[in-house]
Amino acid sequence: MTVAEQVLIELEENKGRPISGEELAGKLGCSRNAVWKAVKNLESRGYEVEGIRNKGYILKTSADELSAAYIMNKTEKQGLKLEVYKSIDSTNSLLKRYALSGETRDMAVISEEQTAGRGRKGRSFFSPKGSGLYMSFLLHPDLPLAKAASLTTVAAVAEAKAVESVTGMETGIKWVNDIWMRGKKVSGILTEAQTSVESGTLEYCIVGIGINVYEPEEGFPEDIKDVAGAVYEKGNKRENLKNDLAAALINEFMSFYRAMPEKAYLEDYKKRCFCIGRDVTVVTAEHKALERDKDAPDRVHAHVLGVNDDCHLHVRYKDGTEAFLSSGEISIKL
Ligand code: BTN
Repeated sequence: MTVAEQVLIELEENKGRPISGEELAGKLGCSRNAVWKAVKNLESRGYEVEGIRNKGYILKTSADELSAAYIMNKTEKQGLKLEVYKSIDSTNSLLKRYALSGETRDMAVISEEQTAGRGRKGRSFFSPKGSGLYMSFLLHPDLPLAKAASLTTVAAVAEAKAVESVTGMETGIKWVNDIWMRGKKVSGILTEAQTSVESGTLEYCIVGIGINVYEPEEGFPEDIKDVAGAVYEKGNKRENLKNDLAAALINEFMSFYRAMPEKAYLEDYKKRCFCIGRDVTVVTAEHKALERDKDAPDRVHAHVLGVNDDCHLHVRYKDGTEAFLSSGEISIKL
């Protein structure tokens, strides 16, 4: 950890009251000049630090940048290895490289920007710097492949709860696993897994979550602007928001993950699943009419009756027949 990061932890812990350069230097085992340089570094990153003669440094306002130290401080009990980046190609791709090179620890990686962010079905995921939070978990669960999809559900619920607890705002989950706020998608999840051929169980699993925290300054690109939204619509930047969100997400995710067999996430999922009770159009994952609907046109429109314990959508078609739709096969248009 750099001296600047260590000074930041001390200043955060003593926020609002001064701590002398001498005390900081003593605690961190460095010179007062190194402390001064660290403070200048923090100021250049947007932290407001006041230097008071004969008293020391006082942290007035924190920046809204990701800090490994800050997040670690709030998530220590999870025992995850944590890495934080300013920019990376893709947090999922990085963890895949780690897994392939033999990493056996569970990890979380977070970045302020992705230069090659990946979405579902081979699409790219818009990941500009400054406005989003891009995070992936590397996990080694003792699960059959068929259960891997539940990890996405766990992530969606954890994320919804984290956003709600940090911002005080409501979220909804659009079946299957997208988080929506004010009628727009604010987040997507990409889960990737590697199975062992012999045992049929997961060797590792990577759960990637991308959150549009703020609206990007230049707006969303043309191709997604009708559907993409942000947790905060305009401005509203606040100190440590991204750090608080990241920490809350890690804590929520890990506690649901550890209790997966109990399916503690299900009730929270159903509560937020805003498709229930609504009429939907059933389409294939590629948004084309289902093949079988050539023979059964009444099975394009359906009423959603609920979600079962595997998070399959229970629907009734116009012809009165009922079905459970699995996430792998279809998506829905509201
Ligand atoms: C989707 O909605 O299509 C899923 C998007 C998933 C994006 C996240 S951002 C963090 C992680 N790294 C990636 O490259 N993708 C996932």
